[in-house]
Amino acid sequence: MFAFEIDPDTPKPALYDELLDAARALTEGEADSVANMANIAALIAQYVPDLNWAGFYRVVEDELVLGPFIGKPACIRIGHNEGVCGAAWAKGITQVVADVHAFPGHIACDGDTRSELVVPVIQSGRVTHVIDLDSPSLARFDKDDQTGIENIAKLLDGRI
Ligand code: SME
Repeated sequence: MFAFEIDPDTPKPALYDELLDAARALTEGEADSVANMANIAALIAQYVPDLNWAGFYRVVEDELVLGPFIGKPACIRIGHNEGVCGAAWAKGITQVVADVHAFPGHIACDGDTRSELVVPVIQSGRVTHVIDLDSPSLARFDKDDQTGIENIAKLLDGRI
């Protein structure tokens, strides 16, 4: 097991720098994408407070299919442009949703979720995965969270 010291008083950008360093160290030289996604989901859940779900969906043919995650069992398949995850895939850009109930077509996998951040992972010019973070708090995600998870997505190019 890998233990990471996390100081809850660390400012958010510094916390995301530490998360990125840990993610780089854990995935360096490891070619197995499932292992890498599993460890990244676990790291995000350890480092980022106030989440009820964190994990991956993979683009498989014309659908997103559930990947490694931490949280309650979730919807397995999501169509192109369906829900927040499908929108991030279709548009190829991060979706920050302050209130999921105000997002048309939001897919409620976990009834506790109030806000959501979904970041596409782009490899060789196409979206191959999305990273999905759910929070039970309204408007939980800001620019620092977006930048932090987008940096993880960039790191994962070639690693998942
Ligand atoms: N809420 C997402 C579905 C995935 S779960 O939150 C884990 C969506 O609307 O795409």
